[in-house]
Amino acid sequence: MSHATVPHQSFNPGVSSQVAADAFYQTLRLRRSVRQFSARPVPVETIRSLVACGGSAPSGANKQPWRFVAVSDAAIKRQIRLGAEAEEREFYERRATPEWLADLAPLGTDTDKSFLEIAPWLVVVFKMMKTDDAAQVYYVNESVGIAVGMFLAAAQFAGLATLTHTPSPMAFLGEILGRPAHERPYLLIPVGYATEDCRVPDIHRKPLSEILVER
Ligand SMILES: Cc1cc2nc3c(=O)[nH]c(=O)nc-3n(C[C@H](O)[C@H](O)[C@H](O)COP(=O)(O)O)c2cc1C
Repeated sequence: MSHATVPHQSFNPGVSSQVAADAFYQTLRLRRSVRQFSARPVPVETIRSLVACGGSAPSGANKQPWRFVAVSDAAIKRQIRLGAEAEEREFYERRATPEWLADLAPLGTDTDKSFLEIAPWLVVVFKMMKTDDAAQVYYVNESVGIAVGMFLAAAQFAGLATLTHTPSPMAFLGEILGRPAHERPYLLIPVGYATEDCRVPDIHRKPLSEILVER
């Protein structure tokens, strides 16, 4: 069966691939999960560009099974904070295993999620279990994960701070935001600027020698 095609447009970084890749790495290596946000505003146009970056991701059979809901409304942000804190209290007090709590200890996280009201934007990412026309979707987790990765990289490139937050179970997000049943909450991402005195956990990334196998 024939299929429609268009000419491929290459991106030329104007420098060698090594120089371009390393420059991008120098930007990405500074990305950290931020839990102290300032109220400094971020224009809606910027959020739209970040979501466009996420939406440029590849996806199984091009189904693009993602929805990004961008929230700046103070009353909705408050509802989300209260919902998240309720789930987090359940998590820390009942659901988390001792091993999980031990793994989280170096991060210093707790049930206080005040940053959800302070950050100018909460971007709630939903994965779509069906298309809006009720058609099949493929490799949903892989596709949405890649889209979120591109969104996070774009935010870092734009000088913005993010947190990948999972106050699970996250069904409350679909309820607060009035999303249909075929959209399942995937991640809650505050987007904004870190406070001037923001501190982050002293943790380290695995060296390349540990994550890369060359054959
Ligand atoms: C899928 C996923 C879920 C996460 N959930 C939470 C969360 O609920 N709360 C939180 O404070 N951090 C959360 N994080 C952030 C991680 O703790 C953080 O990425 C990790 O400690 C590495 O730190 P870094 O992002 O600063 O490099 C999550 C990260 C991922 C990828």
